[in-house]
Amino acid sequence: MDTVALQSRRIVSGMRPTGQLHLGHYHGVLKNWIKLQHEFDCFFFVADWHALTTHYEDTRGIEESVWEMVIDWIAAGIEPSAVSLFLQSQVPEHAELHLLLSMITPVSWLERVPTYKDQQEKLKEKDLATYGFLGYPLLQGADILIYRAGQVPVGEDQVSHVELTREVARRFNHIYGREQDFEQKAEAAIMKMGKKNAKLYNNLRKAYQEKGDAEALETARALLKSQQNLALGDTERLFGFLEGGGKVILPEPKALLTPASKMPGLDGQKMSKSYGNTIALREPDDTLAEKIKRMPTDSNRVRRTDPGNPDLCPVWQLHEVYATDDQKQWVQEGCRTAAIGCLDCKGPLIDAISAELTPIRQRAIELSKHPEDVRRIIQDGNEAAREVARDTLDEVRSAMGLNYK
Ligand code: TRP
Ligand code: SF4
Repeated sequence: MDTVALQSRRIVSGMRPTGQLHLGHYHGVLKNWIKLQHEFDCFFFVADWHALTTHYEDTRGIEESVWEMVIDWIAAGIEPSAVSLFLQSQVPEHAELHLLLSMITPVSWLERVPTYKDQQEKLKEKDLATYGFLGYPLLQGADILIYRAGQVPVGEDQVSHVELTREVARRFNHIYGREQDFEQKAEAAIMKMGKKNAKLYNNLRKAYQEKGDAEALETARALLKSQQNLALGDTERLFGFLEGGGKVILPEPKALLTPASKMPGLDGQKMSKSYGNTIALREPDDTLAEKIKRMPTDSNRVRRTDPGNPDLCPVWQLHEVYATDDQKQWVQEGCRTAAIGCLDCKGPLIDAISAELTPIRQRAIELSKHPEDVRRIIQDGNEAAREVARDTLDEVRSAMGLNYK
């Protein structure tokens, strides 16, 4: 297997330490990680530096959140013996790569990542006009590229960060190396410019490469700059192709979009701590039942005898996640004909969630009693991660001319 194929067996993903997790994390992220852990070489980590970008003013609680979250990961089914589980700030190689990548990353690329303005807008009470916050997606890029991961399991909200990571990797390779299939991709990109411009580009490239015609090089560069329709990656390729071809140092990762990443919360909105609509992974049975019983339903069902419409009901959205086909049919018919009441409807839902959470809760309680075991797992993971990270960093340093002897 060549190195690129090997790298694509590698998966990296991180989570900010938010403390105890909820069902949204479980269905949105963890179940996917658990599925991937035996299929790929997985690196899963706690992004504690990322937490600092928004919580720099009050860092109390981060440490506790780290351990609570790791406990939930393991309780949910992440197997420490099958993956590398580690803590970002204990692998300082991420920070060095972040610094080196910052040298080649245009500020405008970071400013136009949609989460940058969105989050500033959303977290208005915080001053997020910081250097660290602007660099958030680049730090994430370093997290990914340091392991030369092929795929990054993330929710939709993070896809733009993986896109930025790809652009930065491409730029790095363009400046300090070259990618595989470079020629083919460059040829395909040339065709995208249209017949006339493609011919012009090819002639200019030939004039430069065969006769060293510097003017042809400048004209070709200007031609590329004027190509509004080319994707950024293709433009980078064609700039590289003008002057030669070579190898990939940092392969471009792909986002592995987590299916059904919008787990509905108790109010029908996406489940999120900030909406106060969550069910914890360690939710005890009694509060679970209480929360479901208090859930709003189709507001047109004022009386028990009023027929309802599941399409207008947040409880139905949860049934879509948990119910069997038979139960779904029972809800649909019973609701629309007022044959069942809302409390009846909620019963099987409570049972299904409880069945899912009980073993997780029990494991979490058990792990909490042995904090030293959890710490050892993370220490081992830190070591395993650092070994891989050091290799990448060695190559990156060499490529950049920093391999001092
Ligand atoms: N930004 C991610 C989030 O908020 C967490 C994260 C940090 C991450 N580094 C990463 C995810 C690297 C995937 C890969 O969810
Ligand atoms: Fe919602 Fe079920 Fe009540 Fe219909 S019966 S409104 S689906 S809770």
